[in-house]
Amino acid sequence: MNPNANPNAHLDHEIYRDIAEVLISEEQIRARIAELGAQIGKDYRGKLPIVVALLKGSGIFIADLVRAIPLHLTMDFMGISSYGAGTKSSGVVKITKDLEETIEGRHVIIAEDIIDTGLTLSYLMKMLKQRNPASIKVCTLLNKQARRLLEVENVGYVGFEIDDHFVVGYGLDYIQKFRNLPCIGVLKPSVYQTFQVEN
Ligand code: IMP
Repeated sequence: MNPNANPNAHLDHEIYRDIAEVLISEEQIRARIAELGAQIGKDYRGKLPIVVALLKGSGIFIADLVRAIPLHLTMDFMGISSYGAGTKSSGVVKITKDLEETIEGRHVIIAEDIIDTGLTLSYLMKMLKQRNPASIKVCTLLNKQARRLLEVENVGYVGFEIDDHFVVGYGLDYIQKFRNLPCIGVLKPSVYQTFQVEN
């Protein structure tokens, strides 16, 4: 931490005005990802895993996660959308961009921002298993177990268990905004009303 950094700098960050509560701070995220990376490093020693992020939400997570894994690895990205606009799952999963690498015989680690109903990952796991990877595991930063509709297999790593809040930040959005919030926060209810009026 820069000792000269302004401790009140976040007050100038306009996104914080829309946040009711910081649920998980930047420091907590950093510390937990260091632990996850170290664990993955132990579990995959001697292997060359492929870490796959689901865009857009997991883009920020994968960037920090791969830098915490002390192994050679490759990265790939998949575009998948399960939500239209708003805060409720539509249950419809659409692949908007496929992987560039072949995963046959590879040890796949899916870096996911959050597991909510489980619909997105259940669908995706079924699809990726048909490509015959050597193994496949999920590393999710957040887990909202209370809202699970379909149990997701092979969740090997969970950053934080959270209660049933709609959260934003660290890649997670509300109508495409808030992804650049550096922590995980809960929106003020007034934001939903305002955005509904604006959109
Ligand atoms: P699931 O299919 O319901 O498990 O939803 C997974 C996807 O929904 C995540 O990858 C997110 O993109 C989105 N999502 C679920 N919960 C939240 C939330 O609290 N905030 C923002 N996005 C969420």
